[in-house]
Amino acid sequence: MKIYMYGVYQDEVPYIKEWQEEHPEVTVNSTTKLLDENTVNLSKGSDGVVVFQQKPYSDEALRQLALNGITKMSLRNVGVDNLNHELAQKLGFQITNVPVYSPAAIAEFSVTQALNLLRRTKEFYLKLAKGDYNWAPHLAKEMNKQVVGIVGTGNIGSTAAKIFAGFGAKVIAYSRHQNKELEGIVEYVSLDELYKRATIISLYLPHVPATDKMLNEKTFAMMRDGVLLVNTARGPLVDEKALIEALNSGKVGGAALDVMTGETKIFNQQINFQEVDYDEFKDLVDRPNVLITPHIAFYTDQAIKNMVKMSLSANLDLIKTGTSDKLVKF
Ligand code: COI
Repeated sequence: MKIYMYGVYQDEVPYIKEWQEEHPEVTVNSTTKLLDENTVNLSKGSDGVVVFQQKPYSDEALRQLALNGITKMSLRNVGVDNLNHELAQKLGFQITNVPVYSPAAIAEFSVTQALNLLRRTKEFYLKLAKGDYNWAPHLAKEMNKQVVGIVGTGNIGSTAAKIFAGFGAKVIAYSRHQNKELEGIVEYVSLDELYKRATIISLYLPHVPATDKMLNEKTFAMMRDGVLLVNTARGPLVDEKALIEALNSGKVGGAALDVMTGETKIFNQQINFQEVDYDEFKDLVDRPNVLITPHIAFYTDQAIKNMVKMSLSANLDLIKTGTSDKLVKF
């Protein structure tokens, strides 16, 4: 059996080797290149492909994969929003993802960034760089005095809720499905009530039509003055033009964005700032109260290990049995 892996990072190599030793019956070949129309034929002759990229999977690459007889595709990450679901289905693809590779990785990072906003660390680093070691006027706030609004209590949101509660924050949450494990930790409220009450809002929802630009001019207007935002979920959940307005007016006091709508233009690559064609990013990135990070909340040794090993095993399940417990239901 042959599995071909696209977009392999150096950090993943030891875990691929480890998995390969545990599965000597499988040959794993790989490339650092992403799956697209130029690289699709590299996997010719394989039984399945294992992929990982933020950039959309092109329709042409999917069509060519299917023409090559490869329809078993395993994503090494959770999000499936960069894939044409209709086309994949029409072509007969079976797709798996890794829904739970390390909720703690993303949850811990979102809490870190909320703390960074509260303690105004970027503002201090910026003034320290200029030799200004004064305290004032950057008086901080304490987490234990905050009302944290968790939007979405799936695996990641629930983990974050518990950590925020551990700091002594009052945690309120909105979710379509309430998590019984959070009884006594979280108060479930409507989304409108969450917007009205929270001093920190942290997003943990996928990007689907219903969540597109859910933070917008109208919803910002409902929030408390100076509210802090954390987004480690998906960029398009936030209307970035409306966020800029809300930061300018002081409605939003600070934002930590690990994901951005146009992130594939800038994240995980060397950029030349002058040449970047992304006005909202250019406006936001240098603000002292905006923390932009390049989609790194997931990026831990534990997460990478699970992403590699779980996706390879899911792909092997598809090849051997025609199904997998990680099959994405479109
Ligand atoms: C995911 O697992 O979907 C992530 O957000 C990680 C990302 C780098 C694709």
